[in-house]
Amino acid sequence: MLKIGDLIINSKCMLAPMAGVADTPFRLISREAGCVFAFSEMISAKALAYRSKNTLRMLPANPVDRPIGLQLLGDDEASLLKAVDISNSLGFELLDFNAACPVGKVTAKGAGSALLKEPSKLKQLLRVMVRGSNAPVTLKIRSGWDENSVNARDVALLAQDEGVKALFIHGRTRMQGYRGSVDYEVIKEVKQALQIPVIASGDCLSPQLVKKMFDETGCDGVAVARGALGNPWIFRDIEEYLKGGVIPERPSLDETADTMTRHLDLCIAEKGGKRGVMLFRKHLVWYIRGLAEIRRYKERAFKAVARQEMIGLIEEIRVSEKKIIIPPY
Ligand SMILES: Cc1cc2nc3c(=O)[nH]c(=O)nc-3n(C[C@H](O)[C@H](O)[C@H](O)COP(=O)(O)O)c2cc1C
Repeated sequence: MLKIGDLIINSKCMLAPMAGVADTPFRLISREAGCVFAFSEMISAKALAYRSKNTLRMLPANPVDRPIGLQLLGDDEASLLKAVDISNSLGFELLDFNAACPVGKVTAKGAGSALLKEPSKLKQLLRVMVRGSNAPVTLKIRSGWDENSVNARDVALLAQDEGVKALFIHGRTRMQGYRGSVDYEVIKEVKQALQIPVIASGDCLSPQLVKKMFDETGCDGVAVARGALGNPWIFRDIEEYLKGGVIPERPSLDETADTMTRHLDLCIAEKGGKRGVMLFRKHLVWYIRGLAEIRRYKERAFKAVARQEMIGLIEEIRVSEKKIIIPPY
């Protein structure tokens, strides 16, 4: 269990925000496989404030897709205020602020992880969010901008002072991207300094690595990102492993094919036939990464535009000789 402000989450493990990936179909599939709490894709406060149609479409709207955290990206108070108002009106359970995004286009404008270099501006933005939001406000950070400016502890303390109710930390610097392994030490330091819950992120790619994250850092919870790609079962597997030290068997080929079909149909329900199939392409490739013939399937998946083509592929995979295609952890 995790308690973030007044919000109680019945799991210590959640789905991390993933722009371009963790959309409604992906979140629903994750929930069906055991995920209790999920994040939206990152939403630009500016675009939301302007009520951009594409951005409004990205807002979680399915009542089954709850409890959910909305993550905002922003660098100015006025649009953040408007975005917070919209978020209030939709009643999301949690509101997160992104000071972690490493993408150049974002940091060039002073948003995302660039805010780690401007703690006083970050403080001001958090103040606006905490004052305005009905839901508990949280902050997502990286360990620092670069190896010479690792300031996660100071930024985390500042956020706590501003009334932030939990801290999410990806234990890598902005400059590091995804290179090297996650820095458990910096997460532990942040955890020891804070009274609010610390939810750790980075390399939580298997139940064993999640346990390692808890053991090494003393964190209160973990957010899983890449480990859930093509493997929504990771949420169930983590729960079981943390409870009893045993990882359930990998899903059978039939179960995997059924899940792929369901995921495809959720994509189609969300985006319509052709766009839904196109949206599902990358997910199919993640599901089948344990197959030797992956390149051949990938080529075909990326040409598919009709549901029937994608279903044909899934059914071919279902009758392939392997019993299991989801690789062991
Ligand atoms: C495709 C992708 C998109 C991501 N988008 C976001 C995002 O919008 N907001 C955010 O805070 N983190 C984002 N992240 C970072 C993850 O939430 C997470 O912190 C990071 O991937 C480390 O966790 P992992 O090792 O379990 O993948 C993204 C990661 C991936 C792989």
